[in-house]
Amino acid sequence: MTKDRVLIFDTTLRDGEQSPGATMTHDEKLEIAELLDDMGVDIIEAGFPIASEGDFRAVSEIAERSKNSVICGLARAQFNDIDRCAEAVRKAAKPRIHTFIGTSPLHRAIPNLTQDEMAERIHDTVTHARNLVDNIQWSPMDATRTEWDYLCRVVEIAIKAGATTINIPDTVGYTAPRESADLIKRLIETVPGADEIVFATHCHNDLGMATANSLAAVEGGARQIECTINGLGERAGNTALEEVVMALKVRGDIMPFDTGIDTKKIMHISRRVASVSGFAVQFNKAIVGKNAFAHESGIHQDGMLKNAETFEIMRPEDVGIAGTSLPLGKHSGRAALRAKLKELGVEVGDNQLKDIFVRFKDLADRKKEVFDDDVLALVSDTGAESDHLQLVNLKVVCGTGGQAEAELEMEINGEDVTATSKGDGPVDATFKAVRELHPNTARLQLYQVNAVTAGTDAQATVSVRLEEDGVIATGQSADTDTVVASAKAYIQALNRLIVRREKVGTGVDTREISYKDV
Ligand code: KIV
Ligand code: ZN
Repeated sequence: MTKDRVLIFDTTLRDGEQSPGATMTHDEKLEIAELLDDMGVDIIEAGFPIASEGDFRAVSEIAERSKNSVICGLARAQFNDIDRCAEAVRKAAKPRIHTFIGTSPLHRAIPNLTQDEMAERIHDTVTHARNLVDNIQWSPMDATRTEWDYLCRVVEIAIKAGATTINIPDTVGYTAPRESADLIKRLIETVPGADEIVFATHCHNDLGMATANSLAAVEGGARQIECTINGLGERAGNTALEEVVMALKVRGDIMPFDTGIDTKKIMHISRRVASVSGFAVQFNKAIVGKNAFAHESGIHQDGMLKNAETFEIMRPEDVGIAGTSLPLGKHSGRAALRAKLKELGVEVGDNQLKDIFVRFKDLADRKKEVFDDDVLALVSDTGAESDHLQLVNLKVVCGTGGQAEAELEMEINGEDVTATSKGDGPVDATFKAVRELHPNTARLQLYQVNAVTAGTDAQATVSVRLEEDGVIATGQSADTDTVVASAKAYIQALNRLIVRREKVGTGVDTREISYKDV
């Protein structure tokens, strides 16, 4: 089956830039235009030349630099607007003027024109534009709220006056898919000369239907979709380029249409537009959102590891994303943890995996996302060589003067014991409490804290090195609570010290340790 070609008309630099707060600098506009041209956009609407000197300069320079795309400028139905627009696109290899006027009753009331007066204005301005440039697009703004008979009448006038593309804007995002398809279909069937020109669809997203309405218009016979990167645009935005392009690609079985877009370039331009416009992309945005190819739940991750098609209808590589992401979180299962460990080059046996998984779940309950470094910290936190000493509970109260009080509960050789100690800060108080319950002479040679991941819920990895009578033992622990990680690392080092000292035949004495002078 041969597929029909649908032209992609990008208006990120005009309708997109028009959205409050999305203004781009001259250089940023040039950069985005170059990326659009390079990705295969058929027509770039580069700006509204009469709007400002800056817009005029941007459209002119984009026109001059364009390689493949048609460069289009917007103009109201006024001769001076159209002249300025023609001047701006003049240097493009393929220039287009896009002129428009609001044709619905609400919009006709603004310039206070009767239907006849407006019809005459349309005839005159489209004729004028066509005398300047061969490629003319005309739009009846608010077409979806324009009376049917009047819409047919003005579309016919514009075609006769020389418009080569008729764009049907759903300016306020009011239409719905079936209506969108019908409108284009009926216009093509009704208006004389309609089969000689291209019909375009231009949808806004006020009811969240812009993509569906655009695709429905294509089914009705439109062969140009107007859209923006990331759906940037007035109010709720315009149809998102990445959505319509990928919908046509993925569902070519029921929508047999091709675009000329190199879809692998989608992600890069999406990021650039987000960055230069200052409009971040929502995490769950279709195609380009951070989570569009991310799977956290255990069932989904397990499925993805077995066959990516279980939960993905397109390959991330096709839109320029390196790969699927399986972020580890509290919903992740053992299969994903094992896969992550393998990816990090850590081979573990079943028993060790079981142990790491228990602590991983415990950590994931306290953290939104468990990062690679968190996993590595969990791995290095295994294998205390004895469990003479175990942390049961720790409560620390800190004061503003640096004084802290630790209430510690430990199990020592199976017996539950508690102690309360004051110290110079929470770690000092905690270590003193440990010493009170397990007196020893070990010297603290090293105490080091690293935040292994970003954010206030980051895991801290604490490393402790102890030395006693020439015997050295280290402990390491990771926790979102630095003091808890410190206590666990200290206790682990003491446990190892006990085992090592037993091996060299010495006992543990009861002298104070002097960890504060490290
Ligand atoms: O939404 C709209 O109607 C427009 C026109 C200028 C085409 O952007
Ligand atoms: Zn618009």
